[in-house]
Amino acid sequence: MKEKITSLKLSKWIVESGQDELLSESPQNRFFDPDSESKVLEVVPSRKIAPQDKIDSPKNINSTEIANMASTLVELRESMINYDGCSLKHTAMNIVFGDGDEKSDVMLIGEAPGADEDREGIPFVGLSGKLLNKMLSSVGLSRSEVYITNIIPWRPPGNRQPTIQETAACLPFIQRHIELINPKVLILVGGTASKTLLVRKEGIMRLRGRWFDYQKSDKTVIPALSIFHPAFLLRSPAQKVNAWKDLLAIRSRLKNL
Ligand code: URA
Repeated sequence: MKEKITSLKLSKWIVESGQDELLSESPQNRFFDPDSESKVLEVVPSRKIAPQDKIDSPKNINSTEIANMASTLVELRESMINYDGCSLKHTAMNIVFGDGDEKSDVMLIGEAPGADEDREGIPFVGLSGKLLNKMLSSVGLSRSEVYITNIIPWRPPGNRQPTIQETAACLPFIQRHIELINPKVLILVGGTASKTLLVRKEGIMRLRGRWFDYQKSDKTVIPALSIFHPAFLLRSPAQKVNAWKDLLAIRSRLKNL
């Protein structure tokens, strides 16, 4: 009579025969199904990827060309909404384009929207914005008399700093934005705006309070002053003395326009 082979007996026999390891020398793909593999190969013939097949990535989308095609602020906003080279667009609720007097001589540029700005689609409406309004009114400027925007038009998740790639992708849009507003004075609010637009490596501690020339694409220049970001001043109120000096510099510049 044949002996019934149970799985326990089989295991014992395997161990007794010296096969006490479950590892083989090369990894085994237990999910490999030769049948389905051959079916896939039959249906999808392989071919080389042609250059025109490349999937669009930020570096393949020329944001400079797109931005420079805009001849009005409305067109620029539209082209930014349609632009797919900055993934922040997909996590933000709204585009934060700009606010204030489009014909103003004074243009302020911050870093990127926070949660309040993202919700409302307007720059500098949160706590920092309230302090910025006070800073402006201390030199006789109301918010509605200036034009305000940011380097990045979409809120970075968790209010993190924008990455170099995100800043680079959005740069042509803010450059075009400046050209369309065409202000007489630029106020760069905080380190990100200052370093990006002035192409400087120094931090805001070294840049603030100094006038620089912002160079437009036609090589003409706009005087630009860096100031502390109000969010920084809220954390470091002792620096308000220096912020005040910078505001006075703006006031005297505006008097001489
Ligand atoms: N901080 C910025 O830099 N911009 C805003 O719009 C709000 C906060």
